[in-house]
Amino acid sequence: MKKLLITGSSGLIGSEVCHYFAKELGYEIHGVDNNQRAIFFGPQGDTRWNQQRLQREIKGFVHHEIDIRDRQGVLDLLAMVKPDAIVHTAAQPSHDRAAAISFDDFDTNAVGTINLLEAARRACPESPFVHMSTNKVYGDRPNTIALKELETRWDYADPAFAHGIAEEFSIDQSKHSLFGASKVAADIVVQEYGRYFNMPTCCLRGGCLTGPNHSGVELHGFLSYLVKCNLEAKEYRIFGYKGKQVRDNIHSLDVARFMAAFVQAPREAEVYNLGGGKENSCSILEAFAITEKFTGKKQQSTYVDENRIGDHICYYSDLRKMKDHFPSWDITQSLEETIRQIVDAWRNRI
Ligand SMILES: NC(=O)c1ccc[n+]([C@@H]2O[C@H](COP(=O)([O-])OP(=O)(O)OC[C@H]3O[C@@H](n4cnc5c(N)ncnc54)[C@H](O)[C@@H]3O)[C@@H](O)[C@H]2O)c1
Repeated sequence: MKKLLITGSSGLIGSEVCHYFAKELGYEIHGVDNNQRAIFFGPQGDTRWNQQRLQREIKGFVHHEIDIRDRQGVLDLLAMVKPDAIVHTAAQPSHDRAAAISFDDFDTNAVGTINLLEAARRACPESPFVHMSTNKVYGDRPNTIALKELETRWDYADPAFAHGIAEEFSIDQSKHSLFGASKVAADIVVQEYGRYFNMPTCCLRGGCLTGPNHSGVELHGFLSYLVKCNLEAKEYRIFGYKGKQVRDNIHSLDVARFMAAFVQAPREAEVYNLGGGKENSCSILEAFAITEKFTGKKQQSTYVDENRIGDHICYYSDLRKMKDHFPSWDITQSLEETIRQIVDAWRNRI
């Protein structure tokens, strides 16, 4: 039986990957998570419920309570498990949170990643290594693209970006936030282990990754948190850009499906922009409208006339490279269906 080692297994993406690889590909799953999300974001970010769900639902699931910053722990774990594939999703994931916890952020995102890469190189250099990166590696440079203002959203005015932002876009000389900077460090080192050591690595620069199993909080997990606010009649705070800022949203199932496609046909040192693309993009105002349709409740919101530092005004991923390299992969979960599932999930959880 093939073995998958997945870090951040109790999180949104990690848990989806556990299920997908166990059920669809028959892998034995080794999850690594220490519930650090509860330390980063407080009790609202707690992911133990998801860990318990995995232990209940996946036969033979092995949970490893290890902090990826623990270098020796990671080296010993990889030497013991010798996985056939590694998916790395553990992270301090918040743009805004990073400034207050800069050491924890960098140690988790950058140092944790090299701990895993080096451990993989020593234990199983042939095993595909999939790293969850972020579109924040592009910093605020996407905001330099000419935009047009539409009734409910911003969009690119420059036809060069009609399909969205592609992987050649510069990651240099822009404001990233400390989170973006620690993720750039990780992204580059993952590419380097691919190029320098010929390991089958890839970086997935995620747009908004979402789904019913997110423990959304104000500082991370945009749609999940927005829906939760709607259901609890709590005010959602819009930070600047008239609420017309655009994100592309991809369901965690489609993320897991892409990771599986890469693991089955790996390449070296690849980079992909992984998001919902233009079709699954929405502004905050548009997300309110779709959510209201499913909950029947009006979204309560307040407007803060100051944008989040380095926040993108309009971002959607150009998915053409992914589809070109993996023609059988496509988005299967529409934005509306994704929001419907998030509404259902919160109804059961709150
Ligand atoms: N959700 C998004 O919108 C989004 C967008 C772009 C990129 N990403 C990236 O995708 C990845 C997964 O994101 P997610 O939304 O599933 O996050 P998540 O917070 O839901 O899951 C991450 C998990 O990692 C665990 N973790 C954190 N630090 C750890 C450590 N030091 N040791 C062990 N476990 C640790 C947490 O407890 C949590 O369960 C991250 O790398 C994130 O930066 C997410």
